[in-house]
Amino acid sequence: MAILEIKHYPEPILRAEARIVPKVTATVRKLLDEMVQTMRAAEGVGLAAPQVGVSKRVIVVDVGEGLIELINPKIEKKEGSETAMEGCLSIPQYLGEVERAASVTVIGLNREGEEVRIAATGLLARALQHEIDHLNGILFIDRATVIYEKKPGQPEDGQIGEGEAPTKPSASETGGRDDSTGS
Ligand code: NI
Repeated sequence: MAILEIKHYPEPILRAEARIVPKVTATVRKLLDEMVQTMRAAEGVGLAAPQVGVSKRVIVVDVGEGLIELINPKIEKKEGSETAMEGCLSIPQYLGEVERAASVTVIGLNREGEEVRIAATGLLARALQHEIDHLNGILFIDRATVIYEKKPGQPEDGQIGEGEAPTKPSASETGGRDDSTGS
């Protein structure tokens, strides 16, 4: 097992549609193990395979309610809406306010290749939506209504200092890519 390198925006793999996993093999289970290890080492609550350079529809999530490993996950149902602050291990300098469905039902395969269905609310619902977005090349900065730049020495929990003006990152700060073009 190994801790994998986390790809940072604007690496092209983060914008690619990840491939369906045709069969849950030992290779996929090893990927799951390494993704979990990598997520824990980075103190993240979720990780999608494209973030470690693997274009496969595989995600891991742990928001403190138990580890979830899903292959070929799909959102079956979503309800309500909720706006909260979000970050991403692939975009470490920024946080954003993102509106998501308040609750979702997700189906996918577990590491045994069996179909599982997960009903989630709150942070778990948010994390699942964020990770499934990664499989479609979508990042939280695409959905954020406000983006905040983390300041050095700022706590990782995303608290913004009072009186600090929120700013959208300029194209140069995020690697020269202008997402408003949709290209
Ligand atoms: Ni992310």
